[in-house]
Parts: sequence; C-alpha cells; structure tokens
Amino acid sequence: ENSIYQRGLHYEKPSLTFRTTEWQPQAEAVMSAQSTGYVSGNAGTGETYRKNLAAFQKWSIVPSRLVPTPSLPDLSVTVLDEKLQFPIAVAPVGVQRIFNPDGEAASAAAAERENVPFIMSTASSTSIEDVAKANGDGVRWFQLYWPSREHDDLTISMLERAKKAGFTALFVTLDTYILGWRPSDMDNGYNPFLRSDPIGVAIGFSDPVFRSQFKQRHDIEVEDNMGLAAAEWTKTIFPGLNKSWEDVAFLKQHWDGPIVLKGIQNVTDARKAVEVGVQGIVVSNHGGRQVDGGVGSLSMLPRIVEAVGKDIDVLFDSGIRCGADIAKAMALGAKCCLIGRPYVYGLALRGGEGVSHVLKALLGDLELTLHLAGIPSTSPEHLTREKLVREDE
Ligand code: FNR
Repeated sequence: ENSIYQRGLHYEKPSLTFRTTEWQPQAEAVMSAQSTGYVSGNAGTGETYRKNLAAFQKWSIVPSRLVPTPSLPDLSVTVLDEKLQFPIAVAPVGVQRIFNPDGEAASAAAAERENVPFIMSTASSTSIEDVAKANGDGVRWFQLYWPSREHDDLTISMLERAKKAGFTALFVTLDTYILGWRPSDMDNGYNPFLRSDPIGVAIGFSDPVFRSQFKQRHDIEVEDNMGLAAAEWTKTIFPGLNKSWEDVAFLKQHWDGPIVLKGIQNVTDARKAVEVGVQGIVVSNHGGRQVDGGVGSLSMLPRIVEAVGKDIDVLFDSGIRCGADIAKAMALGAKCCLIGRPYVYGLALRGGEGVSHVLKALLGDLELTLHLAGIPSTSPEHLTREKLVREDE
C-alpha cells in the first residue's frame, strides 16, 4: 500500500504540497535572498540547468497493459554492494544550516526515517560526528572535496573521522575544485563558506589536524579569528585543479570501502574510473552549477552506461524532479538517483519533516508510475531501456 498516496486522498491536508514543481517557489518565498541565490543559482545563464530538465522530456515512458503485478512494484536496488529499499539517495549539499537552523542534522535524521542513504558534504555546516549521530542506524556515505596533495594529512584526517563515524562509501566530487561562475551569488556578494560563524566550515573547525595547524600558523585558536579560519579552510577544500587520475590511488590507500567518483560527464572519464579501480561513478554536472553551456546530464547517461555499466555502478543526478524522472534515469541504466534541490526546498519549508515529505512524495510517485506503466520492479530486467521511447527520433 502506498501510504502517502492513501493519506493524500483521504481528506488529510498535507503540511506541504505534493506538487513537486511548487516546492521551489514556495521555499523561495520564505528564504533570504542569499539562501535563494545559493540553492537555486546556476552557472552562467542557466543553460545547463535548463538542459538537465529538458533532457528528461526527450524520453517518454511507454506503458504496457495486463502485466500481472499483484503488488506494488519492488523498488529495492543493490548499490555498492548494499541492498537499499529505495533507488534514491540524498545528494551531498553543503551549508544546510543556511536553510534551517538544524541543517544537516535534520536532513540526516529524515534520511534515516525514510530509509534512504544520506551523502554528507565536505562543505557541511555540521560536523561529521554530529551528522552521524543524527543519522543513527541509517546508511551514510561521505562526499569529499579533495584538498591539494600538500594537505594529505587533512584529507586523511577527514577520511578517518568519516570511517570512524560509520560512513561506508566515499564519494569524491571531481567537478568542483573551485566554485563555478554563479551570478546569483556574485550579485548578492555571498559565499556561504566565508561566513565567519561556524556555519560555513563546520568540518574544518572541528578537525583536530586543521585546528592544530591553524594554531601553529597564527598562534591563535580557530575561534579567535573565525573569518580567517573560514577563508583558509575554504581554500583547502576548493584548492583548484592540481591532481590527476594517478592521485586516486592515494584515496584507495586511505579509504577502506567503495569509492565513487561524482561529476562524470563523458565516456572517456567513465572508462578511466574503471581503470583506476573505483566501484562507481555519479553521472552528474552538479545541477548545472559549474559549467554553463554544458550538456544535460541525462543526455550522457546512455553512452556511459553502455561503456562501463557492466564494470561499475553508474549512479545519476542533476535534474531529478519527480518519480517519472527517476524511472527514466533507471531505465537508461542508472543504479540509483541522487535527489538534490528538491529536498533542500523541503528543508527550508518544514525542516526535517519537509525533507521526509519530499522523499516520500518522490518515492510514492515513482511507485505508482511504475505500477501503472506495467513495470513490476526497478530491477534491470523489468525497468529496461525498451520501456522508453525518444520522442525526437
Ligand atoms: C550542491 N551539490 C553539491 N555536490 C557535492 O558533491 N558537494 C556539495 O557540497 C554540494 N553542494 C551543493 C549545494 C547546493 C545548494 C546544490 C543545489 C547542490 C550538487 C548536488 O550534490 C547534486 O549534484 C545537484 O544538486 C544535482 O542537481 P539538482 O537535481 O539538484 O538540480
């Protein structure tokens, strides 16, 4: 029984709308201009962002009839050797306390409640240990913004903390070694990482290696000059491009568990990911926030799956806004989808409850969409490419 759907039809007015396109405008009506600019902002003119959404419209689901499906579809998947009840994960999003005072703790608790993995960002406004506590027995993965090799000691410190706190997989984001050209943030004169309160850089402020090095450099504590500490930590996690594919070996040495490279957009890089021996990739363009004029993320998915789908797990994000979007990405070969902005809008509107609502709504929508299309489960035998047609061919 799809309980969220049942409730919606029984005169129980929800505290948040089920119309997925309304979450963004409603959240923007309650957020500050800075927070709105940061979450809704994109690189350049927003062309890539629009292409991310438009790419889904090119593919359509072709329903089948009289397929015996006695129960609602089985949504479970196996990703990175972990059996998950649902084919989605909460995407890494930084500085969540600018959207709600409880920030990442609220989202991580919601992810556990809804049985969805939580991917924690290096740019979080909550420490690794506090997120783990809020996430309880949930599945959690750690996303790394990778410092320069001269700061290997800091990288190792973060990885050790994450491992100790129960994060099982490491997501390494390759598309954001500096922040993109984002006019919304520039017009607001706003960089959330440079805030001189602990919101900007909680992982850095709570890192023993960073703290002791800061003290050595300046002979003061982090708390004595938070602005300076924030600036130095921000430079550490967005160091510019100073690594190559060979450097992945270092992460393998220091991370005992699956490694996933996030931000892959072409077949050559997907093949390199296989060569360097990681377990997965996320086909993603960071929601169109980095390279403007870039290809819509879904448009590259089929080719990448064809090239490496048998060798590693291919995950997907950028532009997932409803259940049908998840179905389409999975039919094109994604093992699961990362939900980005929609849950952030839920967080801004109703805190952890809002995140729960968004995750439940997307999954409920997916479940009924598959059921009504005659697709009995998300397994690759059922949710195949043949369930889709390209409208423009
Ligand atoms: C992000 N994203 C991101 N990714 C990452 O690896 N580390 C991070 O800290 C962040 N932070 C972040 C903040 C905000 C406000 C947004 C919107 C996005 C990218 C995120 O994980 C994901 O790739 C995109 O959100 C997917 O695009 P859509 O579907 O949200 O448009």
